Amino acid sequence: MEIKVWIGQIHESGADTLVVGLFEGTKSPGGEGAALDTALGGAMGEMIANGDMHGKLGEVVALYPRGAIAAKRVLVTGLGPEEKLDLEVIRRASAHAIKKARDLGAKHVATNVHTAARGGMKLAEAAQAVGDGSQLAVYKFKAPGKKFVAPNEIGSVTLVEPDSKKVAEVEAGAKVSAAVCPAVYLARDLVSLPPNVATPSMLAQTAEEIAKTYGMKITVGDREWASDRKMGAFLAVAQAAHQPPRFIVLEHNAGRSDLDTIVLVGKGITFDSGGISLKPAEKMEDMKSDMAGAAAVISTMKVVGTLNLPLHVVAIAPCTENVPGGGGYHPADVLTASNGKTIEIISTDAEGRLILSDALVYAQQFKPKAVVDLATLTGACVTALGEWVSAGLFTTDDTLRDKMLASAERMHERLWPMPLWDDYYRKIISIVADMANTGGRYGGVGASAIFLKEFTDYPWAHVDMAGMALITKKEETPYTPWGATGYGVRLLVDFLRNW
Ligand code: BES
Ligand code: MN
Ligand code: ZN
Repeated sequence: MEIKVWIGQIHESGADTLVVGLFEGTKSPGGEGAALDTALGGAMGEMIANGDMHGKLGEVVALYPRGAIAAKRVLVTGLGPEEKLDLEVIRRASAHAIKKARDLGAKHVATNVHTAARGGMKLAEAAQAVGDGSQLAVYKFKAPGKKFVAPNEIGSVTLVEPDSKKVAEVEAGAKVSAAVCPAVYLARDLVSLPPNVATPSMLAQTAEEIAKTYGMKITVGDREWASDRKMGAFLAVAQAAHQPPRFIVLEHNAGRSDLDTIVLVGKGITFDSGGISLKPAEKMEDMKSDMAGAAAVISTMKVVGTLNLPLHVVAIAPCTENVPGGGGYHPADVLTASNGKTIEIISTDAEGRLILSDALVYAQQFKPKAVVDLATLTGACVTALGEWVSAGLFTTDDTLRDKMLASAERMHERLWPMPLWDDYYRKIISIVADMANTGGRYGGVGASAIFLKEFTDYPWAHVDMAGMALITKKEETPYTPWGATGYGVRLLVDFLRNW
C-alpha cells in the first residue's frame, strides 16, 4: 500500500473511495467534511439527522454519491467525542475505515488527516497515525505452510491536505509511516514464522539483507566467534541447540564518532522449550515468539536505513534456540559471562537474561549514550501488567525513561515504569557464583532486571515485552490483527527520531 499526499479538496483527489471522519454528537461533518457534504447534496447531514450514524469510534458507514462527485463511495468513520481525540483514536478510526474499504473492493483511497482544532496535536504525527492505522490494519501473514487467500489489495492511500502551507508537515508524517509500516510487517512475519524457518541463521540472513540494502556494517558471530569473546552465558544456552547460534551486530553509520551512539539489543530465542527445566506442553508453541525482541530491533534497522537517521545506531541480537539435549547446560552449572561475572544456573528456562548478559557487555565497547533492550523475558511481567496491555520498563536513567515513556505514549506501544531497586538483588544471591539466574517465586520481573543491570555501564532501558509479542483473536485491536503484533518497532523508531 502506497502512502501519498495530495493538496486539494478530498472529492477532487481522484480516488475511488473517500474516507472522512465524524465526531460523536455533531450535527454535521466539520472542517473539510462540510465541503464534501455540500458536494454530496447534504447526504451526510441527512444520514446523521436520521440517526443512522453517531460518530462512535468503530462505526463506518458507506454513502453512494451517484455521480455527484467522481468517487464511487464515501466512507464516514466515527472519531468518537472530539475532546477524546488523540493519535490512537486516529489510528483506530483509520483502521476501521480501511478494512471496510478493503472489503468493499476499494483500490485507491483518499482520506482527510483527522485532527481536532483543539488539543495542539502535531499535524505530522496525525498524518503518521492515519498512515500507520491504515497500513497496519490490513496486514495478513503469508504462512509458508498454508495456501494464501489474498484479500482485496488497496493500492494507495492518499492523505489530503487542502492547505498548501501545511502540506510539508503531512508529507513528513507520511514519509515516516511509509518507512515504519513495512518494518512492522517484517517483525510480524519473523515472529509468526515457525521456529524451523525463523532460525538464528535466517534472522542473520535477514539482517544481512538489510545491511546490504542500506550499506550498514554487519557482524554475524558463530559459536567460535562467541567463544573467542568468552561469551560463556550465550554459549551455554546454545549448547544443546542443533541450529547454529548467531550473534548478530548491525551498525548504521559505523565509525561516525561525531554522532550519538544508541545501541538496541533484542532477545533472539527462536524457540524456548525451557531446556532441561522443560516448560509445560500447553501453549509451548507460543514460545516461537521468544525472538520478538530480536525481530523488533532488526526490523527497526530497516527504518533507520530508510530514513537515514543522523545517529550511530547499533542493533545487537543474540540468537539461539533453547532446547533440551544431552549436551545441554544444567541447573547447578556455573558459567562465566564475557565480563568475568559468574552465574549459577537455577533454571535453564531463565535463558533470556543469559544471552542478554553477553549482549549487554558487548554493547559497552560502543560507549553508547543509551542502550535499550527489548526482551520477552518473564511470565512475571505478564502477570503484573497483563497480556497485550503494557510492557514493563526498567531504567537506570531518568531522562532515558522519560523519552521512552513519551514514545510509548505517542505510539500507543505501552510501557509502564517498574522499580529497579537494589533490594531485588538479594533474590539472586548465590553461594557458588556471583549471582544466580533466578530468584524465588515472587518478584521475578524485578529479579530478572536487576540481574541484567550487572552487565551494563551506560544509561540503560530494559523493556520486558513478554506479554506483547502475540495477540489472540479475542484481544485483537483495530490495527493489530490476531497473531504477531510487531510490538517495539514503532516505539524504537519514535524514540530514535526524537533522540
Ligand atoms: N521466554 C520466557 C518468558 C515468557 C513467558 C515470554 C510468557 C512470553 C510469555 C522466559 O525465557 C522464561 O521462561 N522465563 C521464566 C523465568 C523463570 C524461570 C525465572 C518465567 O517467566 O517463567
Ligand atoms: Mn525461558
Ligand atoms: Zn525465553
